[in-house]
Amino acid sequence: NTVASCIYILENALFGMGNPLLDISAVVDKDFLDKYGLKPNDQILAEDKHKAMFDEIAKKSKVEYHAGGSTQNSVKIAQWMIQTPHKVATFFGCIGTDHFGEILKQKAEEAHVDARYYQQTQEPTGTCAACITGDNRSLVANLAAANCYNKEKHLDLDGNWELVEKAKVYYIAGFFLTVSPESILKVAKHASENNKIFSLNLSAPFISQFFKEAMMKVMPYVDILFGNETEAATFAKEQGFEETDDIAEIARRAQSLPKVNKKRQRVVVFTQGKDDTVATIGEKVTMFSVLDIDQNDIVDTNGAGDAFVGGFLSELVQERTLEECIRAGHYAANVIIRRAGCTFPEKPDFP
Ligand SMILES: Nc1ncnc2c1ncn2[C@@H]1O[C@H](COP(=O)(O)OP(=O)(O)O)[C@@H](O)[C@H]1O
Ligand SMILES: *[C@@H]1O[C@H](CO)[C@@H](O)[C@H](O)[C@H]1NC(C)=O
Ligand SMILES: *[C@@H]1O[C@H](CO)[C@@H](O)[C@H](O)[C@H]1NC(C)=O
Ligand SMILES: *[C@@H]1O[C@H](CO)[C@@H](O)[C@H](O)[C@H]1NC(C)=O
Repeated sequence: NTVASCIYILENALFGMGNPLLDISAVVDKDFLDKYGLKPNDQILAEDKHKAMFDEIAKKSKVEYHAGGSTQNSVKIAQWMIQTPHKVATFFGCIGTDHFGEILKQKAEEAHVDARYYQQTQEPTGTCAACITGDNRSLVANLAAANCYNKEKHLDLDGNWELVEKAKVYYIAGFFLTVSPESILKVAKHASENNKIFSLNLSAPFISQFFKEAMMKVMPYVDILFGNETEAATFAKEQGFEETDDIAEIARRAQSLPKVNKKRQRVVVFTQGKDDTVATIGEKVTMFSVLDIDQNDIVDTNGAGDAFVGGFLSELVQERTLEECIRAGHYAANVIIRRAGCTFPEKPDFP
């Protein structure tokens, strides 16, 4: 389609804000897992007893670093799908003034994401260690500095806010509601007032449960709501929807929640692993089948949801249809689940 391919994609058209984590992965042995009380396959938040583990894993011979954190992963994948120009994606988040922070900056640059971190000295850069034994991965996340994002000290500054104004599409994962709900609200209101697209991810059941008030303050500004089936079910239960196991009905109910910008109808998109993705178009609910994959070819489904969102956003900033956005989401997720961690080949093969 020559017309579509001529659309000029602007720098900084996609804006993401969230918890930046430096992903550190290395192959370890059972003694290493035992020393830090880790299960071979798990996903936990770091406790005091894990603090020394991050330095120890960084000394392993084949250690790999990647720019991580849910939202940063999604914008990184969107940038990868788009390829050129560089810096279509902007990312805001908080890091420390330390070695891991420098690596993170370098990794974001390599991914061609325009990362503008708020750097503070109180807390070290957030990390997520992937301790690999064979096909197993034990993930330990330490948010640290990511928790210290500050609206007044970063988002409100002229040079930063200009980048928010420059964007056309906004994406923030629900996780960030635990860090800076006032920052989310400011961006969401800006999008709404200027008839631009604001999207939010439910991110995890605990967000719908324990950050309900903050979430529902933002909901009236949400143009696109993402989530997976588990998150959707918890959201429905917390909101008192009478149907909590019919995903299409949950999508319909979420779609019709109050909305400030009446020029755009909310779109709700729920993924269900290998099952169809559910999306609302107006009041209608449509199912979209995912790309076929031999289940034996799946290496690691971590990051599948982040990749889906990234692929979706890459088409959304190019003003493509919902069908195209979902197709790109399924493509990106399909690439990522064939590989260990949230990594991708040099170029996408997405027609
Ligand atoms: N087992 C699978 N088979 C095929 N596709 C999958 C599978 N698991 C994930 N995917 C792809 O990844 C997308 C997101 O997966 P999902 O499991 O819902 O996300 P997450 O668990 O990361 O929240 C799906 O819509 C699909 O495209
Ligand atoms: C991977 O974990 C499973 C259980 O979770 C265990 O049975 C298996 O031995 C582990 N493999 C390695 C290489 O540690
Ligand atoms: C959905 O995401 C949650 C984390 O929020 C995860 O625990 C769950 O396994 C995911 N569900 C599916 C079906 O992928
Ligand atoms: C975000 O949304 C996707 C797709 O709807 C979902 O699979 C995923 O679990 C959500 N995850 C995060 C971490 O925000």
